[in-house]
Amino acid sequence: MKLLKVLLLFICVNVSAQQGGMWIPSLLKGMNETEMQSLGSKLSADDIYNVNNSSLKDAIVHFNGGCTAEVISSKGLLLTNHHCGFGQIQSHSSVEEDYLKDGFWAMSLDEELPNKNLEVTFIISIEDVTKTVLNGVSDDMSPKEIQSLIQKNTNGLQKSFKKEEWQSTKVKAFFKGNQYFLFVTESFEDIRLVGAPPSAIGKFGSDTDNWIFPRHTGDFSMFRIYADKNNRPAKYSKDNVPYTPKHFLPISLDGIQEGDFTMVFGFPGRTNEYLPAVAVEQITQKVNPTNIKIREKALKVIDAAMKTDDKTRIQYASKQASIANYWKKWIGENQGIEKSNAIAKKRTFETTFMKAISKNKYKKHQTLLSDFDKLYGDFEPYAVKRSNFFEIFYRNNELMQTMFRLYQFEQRVEKLKLNKDETKSATAEKLKEIHDTEGYKKAKEYVISQITRIQKNYNANVDKGVFEAIMPLYDAKNSNSDFYNTSSFTNLTDALKVLEGTSNNVITAINNDAAYKFAKPYIAEFYNDLEPNYQRINAEIAKVQKQYMKALMEVLPSDRYYPDANSTLRVTYGQVKGYAPRDAVYYNPVSYLDGVVEKHIPGDYEFNVPEKLLELYKNKDYGQYADTNGKVPVCFLGTNHTTGGNSGSPAIDGHGNLIGLNFDRVWEGTMSDMNYDPSICRNIMVDARYILFIVDKYAGATHLIDEMKLVHPKKK
Ligand code: ARG
Ligand code: ASP
Repeated sequence: MKLLKVLLLFICVNVSAQQGGMWIPSLLKGMNETEMQSLGSKLSADDIYNVNNSSLKDAIVHFNGGCTAEVISSKGLLLTNHHCGFGQIQSHSSVEEDYLKDGFWAMSLDEELPNKNLEVTFIISIEDVTKTVLNGVSDDMSPKEIQSLIQKNTNGLQKSFKKEEWQSTKVKAFFKGNQYFLFVTESFEDIRLVGAPPSAIGKFGSDTDNWIFPRHTGDFSMFRIYADKNNRPAKYSKDNVPYTPKHFLPISLDGIQEGDFTMVFGFPGRTNEYLPAVAVEQITQKVNPTNIKIREKALKVIDAAMKTDDKTRIQYASKQASIANYWKKWIGENQGIEKSNAIAKKRTFETTFMKAISKNKYKKHQTLLSDFDKLYGDFEPYAVKRSNFFEIFYRNNELMQTMFRLYQFEQRVEKLKLNKDETKSATAEKLKEIHDTEGYKKAKEYVISQITRIQKNYNANVDKGVFEAIMPLYDAKNSNSDFYNTSSFTNLTDALKVLEGTSNNVITAINNDAAYKFAKPYIAEFYNDLEPNYQRINAEIAKVQKQYMKALMEVLPSDRYYPDANSTLRVTYGQVKGYAPRDAVYYNPVSYLDGVVEKHIPGDYEFNVPEKLLELYKNKDYGQYADTNGKVPVCFLGTNHTTGGNSGSPAIDGHGNLIGLNFDRVWEGTMSDMNYDPSICRNIMVDARYILFIVDKYAGATHLIDEMKLVHPKKK
């Protein structure tokens, strides 16, 4: 009897352990802790998150708000993905010194390269502040009223919350606004580039292999945190010193086996697991397909240009990577949703939910799903067009992005005039010249910085080609690109000239520019029609979504709920595990260096393997980094529930050691952002031993290996 109970418990725990979830690190005691231990973890909840003593969380940082990184030495050495450090690697690269192509290794501290606009953020503590934030909020208030009350409560809370002067606070909504947490954070700004493998390793397989398993990418790069003499955050200074962390991750040399416990600790960006069927349908059938088409067209032009010219290749490397990344992700997402029948399954679930709420006490929830239907119906034209607008006038085309910035600038200047008008009942003449006010100066500096950033890596011919390819998808009748020949905004010198002089002159000159004349009506339509309607309906949807979330938890309390990702620190865990994407196909969870060599295509822009790596392979010169089977592991799969933002997150074993570096998911499972399916959703990690092998044997940066703490947890 007792045995049966134990067995049953084991089965339940094991089944539920495969269900995914991104958990709040301060709330792991109880269910998560038990579940993790049943999967083989030796860690307690306190080992992972503890405010009073150092814990694993003290080694994890948000890397520039978009990726994750972890501290791996007592001198603030950071590990993240190659694709997370890509922008920095690119910005230090030129045709002569091409770190993208050849890699970069600082052989001593003074060779490490400082980076503008790069910061990393530690989480000091996490506090539930729901009561304070929702104080006075009630369901019968309008979305606007709720929003402003929440803002007011949050402001008050942040003002009075105790923290050190170099720390910050941030309040974030969870469970669709049913719960709120406050984070005390510490951000460092002097972050230097330490090392990166060549793209032929760090981006091996490029777009063809992106989102794909079997994978053979060594997607890592290294940085270092610098602090002032008191180990506190400081602006860049050559007097700053390597940061001493409260905790850093030892690295396991023992590797992994199928079935081993893994935990991924990082900053997942955004998921939407609790959407109604009607929303998933809209995203996959209306929004994704149109955006995929736009990006496909843009990529054709950019890819061709990058292949013919080295300067263009470096200039467009980051932009191309980010456009290509989600282009391919959306395709996989749509296929996954279709193949797994996700929409029909959600509908079936919604029928169950409706049945459950037919009981009297839940009657108040009865209209939620029909409210969704109605709202998403109204939402659709705005949602699709707004999304396409951003693709055309922001994401894929840089001259249009410049026009978008200029429009915002003009609006800002207009607003300045109005304010002055209202406050002083001055004559029109006096109002004419506002060019010397602080507000105008600031607005101009801002738009100049934006245009300078765009122009830094700009090629007007490529951009014009992109425009001609994508604009017809927004407005088939009006896509003549002649204005590229006369606009001043296709080069920085002419652009800056237009921005010289008094506000009136500048605004007039902008309005006389051919590109602005073309773009302005579209951007005005966005601001006057698309955006307000989108935001209005979106606020209504958010209100229903908040009630729906609450209703789910109330009506079906035995289901498993975890908050959607919102760029806050989370723990996800699972096991090393392969998967079967199709009939008769099973992917082993580990790939090896042999596979890198198998994929080698000499001279290919995606699959060329560097000579030195081939050499190491030929001589089996693997140092201490081979597996017990004599092969060097490269990537492995796990059942950890991850999303964008988890890139660079450490994969941690049951003892708290680093075993890998998260960087991707498998294509068949990219729908996990809306529909996590444990049978097919897998995250992809680089094996820590491959990273060490490349640093040590390929790059010869042994001083970095010496700095790390390598351990053998399995050989006790
Ligand atoms: N798919 C991964 C992630 O979403 C890696 C992307 C790297 N970029 C690329 N275009 N290969 O970010
Ligand atoms: N590659 C993603 C990132 O950059 C991770 C993912 O979407 O799985 O965060």
